[in-house]
Amino acid sequence: MNRLTEEGLVLLAFEARKKAYAPYSHFQVGAALLAADGQVFQGCNIENAAYTPSNCAERTAFFNAVSEGVRDFTAIAIVGGKKGQGELSCCPPCGVCRQVMMEFCRPDSFRIILAKSRTEYKSYTLDELLPMGFGPENLQKSPE
Ligand code: THU
Repeated sequence: MNRLTEEGLVLLAFEARKKAYAPYSHFQVGAALLAADGQVFQGCNIENAAYTPSNCAERTAFFNAVSEGVRDFTAIAIVGGKKGQGELSCCPPCGVCRQVMMEFCRPDSFRIILAKSRTEYKSYTLDELLPMGFGPENLQKSPE
């Protein structure tokens, strides 16, 4: 990964988690999305009293970046867990967030870093977490 280390990105995800608005689930998630140009876009989950309008941290980060004109991404770090829980488990992105990643990221090279702590994390490609995903390229192919 260029410029920023994976550990640096994990730290920024922890920082983003502090802003989580999760009064219903009390499950607080933070994400830090690294763009190819080195910029980082953070996001937290934002819940809603009507439940379905809630947004995951990962999508907040993506929409934050895309709305600033950035669409080329290298990696995302994600941290999540119940408020006040000391030790965190890894927080894999939900299916909807994986599909949003599929829209903007190369499945074979985009890295998804799932962290339990600043130093304990595992990194996966989008291909590993969303095998045979449907993306923009599928709409380009001519019918057989
Ligand atoms: N959530 C995320 O923000 N990201 C994930 O990867 C999993 C789930 C949020 C959605 C909701 O606000 C809360 O965590 C509980 O599902």
